[in-house]
Amino acid sequence: MSENFSITRHGRVALVTLTRPKQLNALNSTLAAELIAELAPLDRAPDIGCFVQTGSDRAFAAGADIKEMSEKSYGDMSGMDFFAEWEVFAKFRSPKIAAVRGFALGGGCELAMMCDYILAGESAKFGQPEIKLGVIAGIGGTQRMTKLIGRAKSMQMHLTGRMMDAQEALDCGLVAQVHPDEQVLEAALQDAATIAGYAKPVAMFAREAVHRAEELPLAEGLLWERRVFHSLFGTHAQREGMAAFLEKRDPDFRKD
Ligand code: HXC
Repeated sequence: MSENFSITRHGRVALVTLTRPKQLNALNSTLAAELIAELAPLDRAPDIGCFVQTGSDRAFAAGADIKEMSEKSYGDMSGMDFFAEWEVFAKFRSPKIAAVRGFALGGGCELAMMCDYILAGESAKFGQPEIKLGVIAGIGGTQRMTKLIGRAKSMQMHLTGRMMDAQEALDCGLVAQVHPDEQVLEAALQDAATIAGYAKPVAMFAREAVHRAEELPLAEGLLWERRVFHSLFGTHAQREGMAAFLEKRDPDFRKD
């Protein structure tokens, strides 16, 4: 167990809560290493179907830990490939939902964007303020935000370092929905339970296919999607899902 986060199970859902509220859940190297080590086996576990990533009322995460980074040199950062491990988190195949209240800044905003989608509480504030510290985003901000909200707005966010509120984030497609703060975690857990109720391999492929839309030319993406669609006709999930529809009953995906 880590003092930087907790992991609790809600049926087939793993809820990951950052627990450094005094530092506004700033992300340090220990937290990253421990979090990824603990989540890796859960990602592969057949009885975990979805992750929910959250923080505290005041902050989802206010970025990488500035105290930890402040004395580092170029040699230190490049030598240890600082924060490269977050790509492992991004690549977990289980669907991940971010439930964001308060600040999601710098690495915190990037952590939210590494999840497959974001639900925001009304207090959520997103930003990439690294330029104010004399650096730029380092765990995907310039890339993922640009793909999510387009160049003009992403450029403005990275160059000015300003924050956007939950409504603006909804309007530009950074987040999927906005909920009252006290309901956003519950909404994320409900979505997660729905997702975890489906066959895990099918949810993993659906997630991967959507991400491929950002990575592949359209023709390649369409072909990849169609081939995966065909391959699912070799699964219990397809037989069960379609049989249950025709027999007017709920499907039972527990064998997947
Ligand atoms: C370390 C942090 C922190 C951070 C806040 N704290 N953010 N500590 N790293 N990223 C600490 C403060 O030092 C303070 O500690 C306590 O949390 C509360 O913060 P305050 O500043 O007192 O609160 P407030 O006035 O409400 O301002 C909130 C805030 C501000 C707007 C979020 O804290 C802020 O601007 N934080 C930095 C945000 C940022 O620049 N993030 C990007 C980091 S770079 P004490 O001990 O004084 O109470 C990054 C790069 C990612 O993320 C890429 C890496 C490869």
